[in-house]
Amino acid sequence: MGLLFERTEINGMELRSRIVRSATWTGLADETGGCSQQLIRFYETLARGGAGLLVTGHAYVSREGQAGPRQLGVDSDAAVPMLARLTQAVHRNGGRVVMQLSHAGLYADTALTGLPAKAVTAGKRYSRHQVEELTSEEIEGIVRAFAAGARRARRAGFDGVQLHAAHGYLLNQFLSPAYNVRTDGYGGDLHNRVKPLLEIVRRIRGVLGKGFPLLVKLNCHDFLADGLTESDAVQVAAMLEKEGVDAIEVSGGTRESGAFKSARAGIVSEQDEAYFEPFARLFKERLNIPVILVGGIRRYATAKRLVETGAADYVAMCRPFIKEPGFVCRWRSGDTATVRCVSDNECLGVGLTGSGIGCSR
Ligand SMILES: Cc1cc2nc3c(=O)[nH]c(=O)nc-3n(C[C@H](O)[C@H](O)[C@H](O)COP(=O)(O)O)c2cc1C
Repeated sequence: MGLLFERTEINGMELRSRIVRSATWTGLADETGGCSQQLIRFYETLARGGAGLLVTGHAYVSREGQAGPRQLGVDSDAAVPMLARLTQAVHRNGGRVVMQLSHAGLYADTALTGLPAKAVTAGKRYSRHQVEELTSEEIEGIVRAFAAGARRARRAGFDGVQLHAAHGYLLNQFLSPAYNVRTDGYGGDLHNRVKPLLEIVRRIRGVLGKGFPLLVKLNCHDFLADGLTESDAVQVAAMLEKEGVDAIEVSGGTRESGAFKSARAGIVSEQDEAYFEPFARLFKERLNIPVILVGGIRRYATAKRLVETGAADYVAMCRPFIKEPGFVCRWRSGDTATVRCVSDNECLGVGLTGSGIGCSR
């Protein structure tokens, strides 16, 4: 089985394979963003399935940043006891779990939160409703909220945290000239656009020290006119490495990117797979920390090739785990048949029905 099932570690977090379950909203939190029994069972099943690392679905760090229904929240200390049961369930089954921390920015679901959505730049750009521009005091409040979320995650026993700076959510909005046309110290030059993200990393390191695994999911490209492109993205990753980030997960696209979204439809042939691979190779050339590649990886042979040829150190998948949570154990046992995920993205719709994501086939 070679490299794919080799034991590795990321900043002391021991992993039993190089296969990662990428962050996946499940629609299984309770109505208030609390961790439910169903969600704990869901993660227990995933942990039994053999992935090296599980990344939770995006958890909002403050209520005005909630993106969708029954999304996990880590905005209050009251969330910690149930989250602790989730991490215990994963650890009992030999897994490792990192919490993804997020703020939706202008994509917040205002009907759910009852709060105005906050954007990097005011106006109707990419928004269905009028949004307010974040003030520098509010940006500082969001930095604090991410740090508080990370502290709660550690108290709940998570093995680390991942900052969601991809897919057009707030931290991506800051980085992207398509969303960020501010004229103050947070706009324009890349060094300005990256400030909130770097400040969050410093604040988390300040609170939790160097020994706590801290990962970032980053867009390699927004696939938008004026959006973030690979040259800036690789520079951002290098700055994150310098600040002590332990691994970068390479993704791409926002909800405005049409066919070039993060979860592309119709992954059928080998040529459709691993659609961010050329970008991941650019990150690998520049970085010394591990690169995790996500996006359309389906075949065992593809996963193995990506790791063995050094395109990435880890391969991450989302939709295959929805179809078959235990496929990593199956692959390890020698049955390397491809998961029968047809990438039709119906799983999202299933998740919105109220009883959690699942495959419609
Ligand atoms: C139902 C669903 C929920 C998702 N939730 C998240 C999320 O919470 N955070 C995140 O970073 N990406 C999320 N994604 C994107 C995936 O993590 C992944 O980047 C994308 O689906 C491509 O990987 P895949 O081809 O293996 O599915 C989600 C995707 C789907 C289909």
